[in-house]
Amino acid sequence: MSNRRGPDFETRMAGDEEIPPPPQFVDQATVTDDSVYDEFEVNWPDCWDRAAATLDWFDPYESVLPDDEPPFEWFAGGTLNACYNCVDRHVEAGAKNRVAIKWESHLGETRTYTYQDLYREVNEFAAALRAQGVEEDDVVTLYMPMIPELPIAMLACARIGAPHNVVFAGLSADALATRLESADSRFLVTCDGYYRRGSAIFLKSKADDARLKAAHDLEEMVVVEHLGETGHLGAGQHTYDELVEAHAGAEVAPVERAADDVLFLIHTSGTTGEPKRVEHVTGGYLAHVTWTSQAVLDLKPEDTYLCTANIGWISGHSYVVYGPLALGTTAVMYEGTPNYPERDRIWDLIEENAVDVFYTAPTAIRSFMKWDTSLPESRDLSSLRLLGTVGEPIDPRAWKWYYEHVGNGTCPVVDTWWQTETGGMMITTLPGVKKMKPGSAGPPLPGVGARVVDGRGEEVPANEAGYLVLTRPWPGMPLALRRGHRWGEDAAKFDVDGWHYFTGDGAKVDDDGYVTVLGRVDDVINVSGHRLGTMEIESAIVGVEGVAEAAVVGGNHEVKGEAVYAYVITEDGYEEGEDLRARIIEGVEDAIGPIARPEQVVFTPELPKTRSGKIMRRLLEDVANGAELGDTSTLRNPAVVEEIAAKVRAQS
Ligand code: WTA
Repeated sequence: MSNRRGPDFETRMAGDEEIPPPPQFVDQATVTDDSVYDEFEVNWPDCWDRAAATLDWFDPYESVLPDDEPPFEWFAGGTLNACYNCVDRHVEAGAKNRVAIKWESHLGETRTYTYQDLYREVNEFAAALRAQGVEEDDVVTLYMPMIPELPIAMLACARIGAPHNVVFAGLSADALATRLESADSRFLVTCDGYYRRGSAIFLKSKADDARLKAAHDLEEMVVVEHLGETGHLGAGQHTYDELVEAHAGAEVAPVERAADDVLFLIHTSGTTGEPKRVEHVTGGYLAHVTWTSQAVLDLKPEDTYLCTANIGWISGHSYVVYGPLALGTTAVMYEGTPNYPERDRIWDLIEENAVDVFYTAPTAIRSFMKWDTSLPESRDLSSLRLLGTVGEPIDPRAWKWYYEHVGNGTCPVVDTWWQTETGGMMITTLPGVKKMKPGSAGPPLPGVGARVVDGRGEEVPANEAGYLVLTRPWPGMPLALRRGHRWGEDAAKFDVDGWHYFTGDGAKVDDDGYVTVLGRVDDVINVSGHRLGTMEIESAIVGVEGVAEAAVVGGNHEVKGEAVYAYVITEDGYEEGEDLRARIIEGVEDAIGPIARPEQVVFTPELPKTRSGKIMRRLLEDVANGAELGDTSTLRNPAVVEEIAAKVRAQS
C-alpha cells in the first residue's frame, strides 16, 4: 500500500519519542487505571455498560448488545432522550445556574446561557417546532453558522424526537438542496446572515435559492435574525424570535426515544459523486460521545471547555454539543476564525474564560506555528489541563509545539482518530493512563477493535503500512453499519474474515499497538480538516461550460494538510486561461462551497490513463507534490505526465 502523502511524510510521522502522562494531570484524571483495557476485553460487550452509565435512561436496556452479528442493537430495549440528558437532568440535579454555553462572537459580543436558560429556550423552540407541524421522526434541516440558536435548535429537535440534519453554513445553496432532498426534509431553520472575517455573508438568500432548487417543497422555514437583515419573509417563513416569543414559558415533555431511534443525520464526503448520508442513533451515539468526553477529554461538570470545531461537522456535534453538555460542562462556543480580529484570538479566549480543556485541529496548530510562536506565551494559559486534536494526522513537530508552547509541557495531548461514521473517538490514548507518542494517535480505546491489513485482508506485520479496518461493532456506529449494510467503498475494497468496517485510511501499528494514521487512501481528501470527495469536485468542474474532463487530487500543503489540485481538459473550441479558470472555481463554489475551491487549476491536453482507460490519480498526486514520478510504464500516454509536471512547476 502506498499513502497519498509526499515521500517524506512517513519519515516525518515516525516520531519515536515517548512521553509519560504528566503526574499532576494523572492525580486528578477520571480514568487512571490501566486495568480498564483488560476489563473491556474480558467483559466485552458488557463493558460498554460503562459508557451507557454516563446517561440517564427512562427504561433501562435489557442487553448491551444482544448479538454480535448484524443487526447490532446496542442497548436494546432502553429508552432515553438526548435533550433530557444534555439539559433537564443538570437542572434537576441543582446545576441550573451553571453556565452551559458561553458564546463568544466574531465581533467581541458574548452571550451566556446557564442550564436553566438553555432549558427555557430549548423548550420554547421545541414547542414552536411542534406548532409548525414538526412531528416525531420528521427531519429538520439546520443551516446555521456558529450561533447559540444552532445547539438550541438541535436540542429542541432531540427533545421532540425529530432528527436534525445540520448543514455546514459554508456550503452552497446547491449543496443544501441536495442535503434537503437526501434527508427528505421539509423543515428548515436558517439565519439571515453572519460575519466572517469582518464581512457579512447572507445565508437566507442561499437558503431561498436552495428552496427553489430542491426537488420537493419546504413546508416551513424559520429564520434567526442574527444580522438584523432578514428582509421580506414569504409564506411559511417565520422569524425565530417571533416563534419563541409566541411560546414563551412553554414546556414540552422530552419524548421517549428507543436506543435505536435516529438522533440526527449528517452528510459527509464519500468516494462517489454524492454526499454520503450518515444516521446516528440516540442511545449508542450519546453513550459513546459522553463516555469519550469523560475518559479522553477528561471533562468534568466544573470544567470550561473550548472546542474550535464547527458544529456543521461531526466534531462539533459530538464534542461541542452532545458530549460536553451531557456531562454538564461549560462549553465555550466561538463564532469566528482564529485569526480575526487578531491572531491571538484563541489565546485570548482561553485566558479570558480560564479554559481547562482545549480541542482543536492540526491545521489550526500549523497556522499558529506559522503566525508567531511566541503569541501563546504572551497570554496566561495556565488554566489549561488537557489538549486535544482531531481531523487529520498531526506530525511530531506540530504535536511537540502544541505540547510545549500551548500546554507548557504539563498538559497531555490526545490525538484522537475517528470519523463521521464512527460518531465518536476510536483510537487515542487515555490521557491519565497511557504514554504519548508524538505523531501516533495511540492504541484503540478500550473495547474498540482495529487492525491494519493488506489488500487481501491479511493483517500486516508491525510497523508496515496497510488499510485501517475496525473489526468490532461499537456503540456510536451509524444505522447503516448496525443493519449490516456495507458502504460501497467498503464492500469493493477487500474481504476480511468476519464483520469489519473499512475506514478509508491508511495506517501502521507499532510494537506497542500504537496506531499511526497515514491519511486517506480512497478518493477523499482532507483540506484543513474538511473532508472532501474528489468525485464531487470533479463533477462540479465537468459541469462548467467548456470543460471536457477533469481529475481532482490532493497535493501536500504546509498549513491545510492537503490542497485541491484540479487537472482539466478543455472542450474543443474553448480556450484555457483566466476566464475558464475563474468559471471553474465559481462552479466548484456553487456546487459545494468555498472550502472545496481548487488551489491549482492545471489545463492539460490529456490525462494520464492506463490502457484500460483508468485515470492514474497516483501520478497526478506525485505531480502535485513535486515528487518523483512513480511507474509510468502502464500508461497509454507516458509522455503526458512530464508535460503536466512542467506546467505545475511553472504555475507554482
Ligand atoms: C482523518 C472528523 C489522523 C481521517 C472527526 C479520517 C485523522 C477523517 C484523525 C474523518 C487523527 C480524523 N489522525 N487522521 N487524529 N482524525 N482524521 O469524517 O482521515 O470529517 O478518516 O471526521 O479525518 O473525517 P471526518
